[in-house]
Amino acid sequence: MKKRIVLLPGDGIGKEVMHSAKEVLTAIAEEYNHTFSFENHEIGGAAIDQYGTPLPETTVDACKQADAVLLGAVGGPKWDNNPSHLRPERGLLGIRKALDLYANLRPIKGFKNLLHASPLKEEIVSGSDLLIVRELTGGIYFGTPSERRDNGESVVDTLAYTRREIERIVDKAFQAAQGRRGKLTSVDKANVLESSKMWREIVEEKKAQYPEVSVEHVLVDAAAMKLITNPASFDVVVTENMFGDILSDEASVLTGSLGMLPSASLNESGVGLYEPVHGSAPDIAGKGLANPVAMILSAALMLRYSFELEDEAKIIEDAVQSVLDAGYHTADLQIPNGRQVGTEEMTKLIVDYIRTLNASKCIASCYY
Ligand code: IPM
Ligand code: MG
Repeated sequence: MKKRIVLLPGDGIGKEVMHSAKEVLTAIAEEYNHTFSFENHEIGGAAIDQYGTPLPETTVDACKQADAVLLGAVGGPKWDNNPSHLRPERGLLGIRKALDLYANLRPIKGFKNLLHASPLKEEIVSGSDLLIVRELTGGIYFGTPSERRDNGESVVDTLAYTRREIERIVDKAFQAAQGRRGKLTSVDKANVLESSKMWREIVEEKKAQYPEVSVEHVLVDAAAMKLITNPASFDVVVTENMFGDILSDEASVLTGSLGMLPSASLNESGVGLYEPVHGSAPDIAGKGLANPVAMILSAALMLRYSFELEDEAKIIEDAVQSVLDAGYHTADLQIPNGRQVGTEEMTKLIVDYIRTLNASKCIASCYY
């Protein structure tokens, strides 16, 4: 298989973890006879420094022509006081909109030897395996007007959705639930917001098309509570942009390992942007300490969702699991009696597993 991948390392540890993802993908390509070409472009603070904008045209054009995009992370203290159109986050929001990446998928599944680091009791978090499906290109993030008024005496943001925008994300979530445990939790604030009432109506209308999926509606405040009291009760959660932003951060710490969580943002044609849930971690940037696993697992999601290479995706996930099982971990994690390694060594361990696995298969099938 031949694919063009655009790499947007961004800022902070983004650059280091992107390097790791590229090494892992190169190993997969060599071992399983694929041709992946990589093209680097700037986004976020790095793009502001180099081009005076967080999202240069050249980056958008390259992404539009790619088969998939990998993004590291954006942001850092250097740009924190910039005016809002010159903040690194603008680059991220801009690329989501430019590629119409309306569906953000954040799978949250614990690794058993890391659960002890969860802020929740192990017996509560154990068995949690959920997927947050967040609407990513609408709602209050993009509604207009969004402005200061009356000489700064008042302010407005707008939460707007079209029926079509809600329908497509709800369909995506139902389909995801079909491929998992068949349970969909739709999160809204239908006791207050008009947009949520329409959201709930659409979920109810769609139900008939997916008879094997069971549906529940939960108000966002109650959902926030239930995520920490009974996280294992969720399968697929679907919600609008800002609720999804908040709930996915809450959910991401449940498993005790933010540095392990990948995400996928997809459009209608299957082109996707894949990025770790964690940020640019400026405090440890450039020190070789960053955990590359979330970025590497994001590359695995790319193979699965954009290229339909399920076996190769699974091999990367198994490689990560086996390296953790062997006790290796980066500085952000603790494994009892484990061994702490840096970004490069962690990457090498994962790459070695991939190469050895293939070599041993060849020995089995070629010589016996
Ligand atoms: C995320 C982030 C972004 C968001 C920020 C950086 C704009 O928090 O991807 O969840 O709010 O969507
Ligand atoms: Mg967020």
